Amino acid sequence: MSNIAIIGSSGSIGSALLKALYEKDPEANLYGFSRSDVENTDHFQQVCIDYQDEESIAKAAQEACASGPLDLVIVATGVLHQGDLLPEKSVKEIKASQMAKVLEVNTIFPALVAKHFLPKMQKKTPATFAALSARVGSISDNRLGGWYAYRASKAALNMTIKNLAIEYGRLYKALKIVSLHPGTVQSTLSKPYSAHVAPEKYFTPEEAASKLLNVLEHLQFEDSGKCFAWDQSEILP
Ligand SMILES: NC(=O)c1ccc[n+]([C@@H]2O[C@H](COP(=O)([O-])OP(=O)(O)OC[C@H]3O[C@@H](n4cnc5c(N)ncnc54)[C@H](OP(=O)(O)O)[C@@H]3O)[C@@H](O)[C@H]2O)c1
Repeated sequence: MSNIAIIGSSGSIGSALLKALYEKDPEANLYGFSRSDVENTDHFQQVCIDYQDEESIAKAAQEACASGPLDLVIVATGVLHQGDLLPEKSVKEIKASQMAKVLEVNTIFPALVAKHFLPKMQKKTPATFAALSARVGSISDNRLGGWYAYRASKAALNMTIKNLAIEYGRLYKALKIVSLHPGTVQSTLSKPYSAHVAPEKYFTPEEAASKLLNVLEHLQFEDSGKCFAWDQSEILP
């Protein structure tokens, strides 16, 4: 029986991942963690987490492995805009407090989740730790500029994933650690920037969840530390 944790289960993609995983294996032990209250169902346990309190993350990791070491952990949290925090079009728009917030949510929180959840994962049988990143975190793919904080936070997340893969690869021989680009997905996060997205490229959360799980199913061990898009293509740093 597999033990699975989705961090950010209140989000569009996080909640769709949880549902898709239940449909794939109704016997799995599924845990969803989010800072906002999410209704519990018979299918999975929803637990509150406070990302700003490291103790709360440590407690969540302990709770998630109650039935045994974890087989799959996906970090689906992230922020692009929130209230008066908006992605910058120009360097003139950078605000220190807002940039710090984006880096905190998109880079530091996933790193702390990794710190506490990775030691709870399967050591000898295949397991996967994935964090949702974004194509715009690729430095080599950056042709448009802008979105300083978001781009930097996802590039730093990808570097963190690479570091984790190196460190954990030494002891957890069957563990894959990757970041994922879900495509452009219908959600609160993408809504203000979706006007020019072709309908066939604007995925529902359910489509994105299914594509991301397919990517994870086809990963090889040598893929650990890399970033992959929804169509299984590698996104270069
Ligand atoms: N949607 C897209 O087109 C797209 C494209 C590329 C990458 N991504 C990435 O995919 C991931 C999920 O995005 P989504 O589209 O599912 O977005 P979403 O529906 O807005 O969900 C965002 C998730 O992040 C959490 N979150 C937001 N602000 C937070 C904060 N300040 N502190 C802690 N947690 C916070 C939310 O928790 P609460 O419910 O508690 O606020 C929620 O669980 C993100 O990492 C995003 O960067 C999305």
